[in-house]
Amino acid sequence: MNFANSQSLFRRAAAVIPGGIPGHTTPAATVPGSVPYFAAEGRGCRYRDVDGNDFIDFMGGYGPLVLGYHHPEVEAAATAARARGAVFNHPTSLMVELAEKLTSLIDFADWAVFGKNGADLTTWSIMVAREVTGRPKILKIRGAYHGTAAWCTPGHGGLIPEDRAHIHDFPFNDVPALEALFAQHHGQVAGLILTPFHHPAFADSQLPTPEFVAACNRLCQQHGALQILDDVRCGFRLSTDGSHSVYGYKPDLAVYCKALANGHPISACVGRTAHKAAASRVFLTGSYWNDPAPMAAALATLDIIVRDNIPARLTALGERFVTGFLSLGEKHGLPLVASGPPAMPYVRVGDDPSFMRTQQLCAAAVAHGVFLHPHHNWFISAAHAEADIDEALHRLDRAIHQLKSLHR
Ligand SMILES: Cc1ncc(COP(=O)(O)O)c(C=O)c1O
Repeated sequence: MNFANSQSLFRRAAAVIPGGIPGHTTPAATVPGSVPYFAAEGRGCRYRDVDGNDFIDFMGGYGPLVLGYHHPEVEAAATAARARGAVFNHPTSLMVELAEKLTSLIDFADWAVFGKNGADLTTWSIMVAREVTGRPKILKIRGAYHGTAAWCTPGHGGLIPEDRAHIHDFPFNDVPALEALFAQHHGQVAGLILTPFHHPAFADSQLPTPEFVAACNRLCQQHGALQILDDVRCGFRLSTDGSHSVYGYKPDLAVYCKALANGHPISACVGRTAHKAAASRVFLTGSYWNDPAPMAAALATLDIIVRDNIPARLTALGERFVTGFLSLGEKHGLPLVASGPPAMPYVRVGDDPSFMRTQQLCAAAVAHGVFLHPHHNWFISAAHAEADIDEALHRLDRAIHQLKSLHR
């Protein structure tokens, strides 16, 4: 597979963009030269890179493409809204409709607000928790990603200690550690921010234990702290009504983004009536946040997710993919470890602390036209037909065979 155009574009990018490709799409953590760096077009579960290479895609833009690239109903809704105008002096009726839709779908939600990115609203949500309680402290899971704001970025540059002065983290599923933080900061905790399950980069995913979920619910209630569910990555992939219902969390605020509008830029935060007045006091706006096209896309996407029970489909397809992948590992004597819900699984090579073998596996997959990421969970989309999953497995069979022959 040839990536000459990708590499030439990357050289141009490196000259004019710090880091060339910054952030999560950086090629830095992949086998050099083994993956495309720039995309050209996509349809359904497949995309083409700038060198004309085609891939069956298991990343879906790192989550947003829940229905696949260029879904006709979503694109028609967004295009119709766009044709009426981009940004106005006012919101359109779509904003109200979308808030009504979310509050009808999500059991605890009495109101909704909208931003563009997940981080816009995870950051706003902790401010709401502080406004509600008048307290400074936020508890978070160690290694959980909530965005690029100073209070939570996993990066190191540009931070000062004060950015994190009131942020305290603890290991996922560790009830005693959570209890200890609530005790240590008694009367000071504004909120606990959680992802529904733990999906760190460079590590296996972990599902929450029932004891952990119960402790989150109990301790937030007991200490008058808000429970904030960061459902940015999982929302509407695991269930049609928010991921709290899958695991039993009782959030006060929840933030959605990736699957909300099938790739159109919009995020949402929902909350309870009790916190509505405080929420209205936390300033919230952005130049493009009233853009109606992503709101139209979100309304269409949510309708399809509910109408076609997309989470059930993603789970069934994910089970087919993960089971098939693990059997290939057995067939070829390559130890594979799978974690996370089947709709957004993560599979790596076992006994591979440096991730080198997992990177080689993903490089071999890419060489056979299957796009997988070595250290981030993957995303099944509703555009994957059973035949696409089977074709991907067939290609992976050849990829693993080739990898094993190289190491013989
Ligand atoms: C769980 C979670 N929270 C927050 C974010 C930040 O979202 P955004 O990149 O849209 O700001 C992400 C992005 O990957 C995420 O996965």
